[in-house]
Amino acid sequence: MASEGPRPLVAGNWKMNGSVAMLKEPRLLAAMLKDVKLKADVMVCPPAVILRRVKSVLKGSKIKMGGQDCHWNPAGAHTGDVSAEMLKESGCTAVIAGHSERRTNHAETDEMVMKKARGAHRAGLTAIICIGETLEERKSGKTLEVVSRQLKGSVPEESTAAKTVIAYEPVWAIGTGLTPTTPEVAEVHAHIRAELAGIMGAEGKGTRILYGGSVKPSNAVELMSQPNVNGALVGGASLKAADFLGIIKVYT
Ligand code: PGA
Repeated sequence: MASEGPRPLVAGNWKMNGSVAMLKEPRLLAAMLKDVKLKADVMVCPPAVILRRVKSVLKGSKIKMGGQDCHWNPAGAHTGDVSAEMLKESGCTAVIAGHSERRTNHAETDEMVMKKARGAHRAGLTAIICIGETLEERKSGKTLEVVSRQLKGSVPEESTAAKTVIAYEPVWAIGTGLTPTTPEVAEVHAHIRAELAGIMGAEGKGTRILYGGSVKPSNAVELMSQPNVNGALVGGASLKAADFLGIIKVYT
């Protein structure tokens, strides 16, 4: 049972995990989903170096592929970076922008995240823009204020619902096994929906808002049935096909 709204998306963020040996997991997932009627889009976001191999494993399946990050320029002197155009050419349809680990480990600001989202749009990719408060911000009652600031700073006003996804990921819930209560999730998602109307106008209504942070098979039904929760961004539980399937099943 899932909440009403745009077609949901369940995206698996592999982070810095993935190897040739791990290709068996998406292969397994594609086989398991072959005859399943899905009410959501399913996506995996592997590290850039194995994108092409994952793409060939997913050939003929309904699973889409996304990148984890991109530079905002299409090409140039940016050692170590990949552009949205490169991701597109590797078979991606989307890219994550501004994940909290990028914001923390690489000092990414809202301004940079907005440029990355624009880069994604320029290349024809969907931008999965991540936002979320720290534990300190949550404890001091600043969650909605932080989320508003990040949305205004990171979401381009010309964004369309078709090419934009927001992922609400409380920093303290990522990889910790902790999650906000369901009323807390519903409160933040309703707030995001309202803010998106101010930023994107009518397009805000159909924009998917994912919840991310310790989503697993045992809590997926409850989290995904909250109003304005249009899917999940999944880290740890997306690495094993069986676990990821346990979450995707919410939408079968
Ligand atoms: P997690 O990560 O599911 O391992 O908590 C979520 C994310 O960072 O996208």
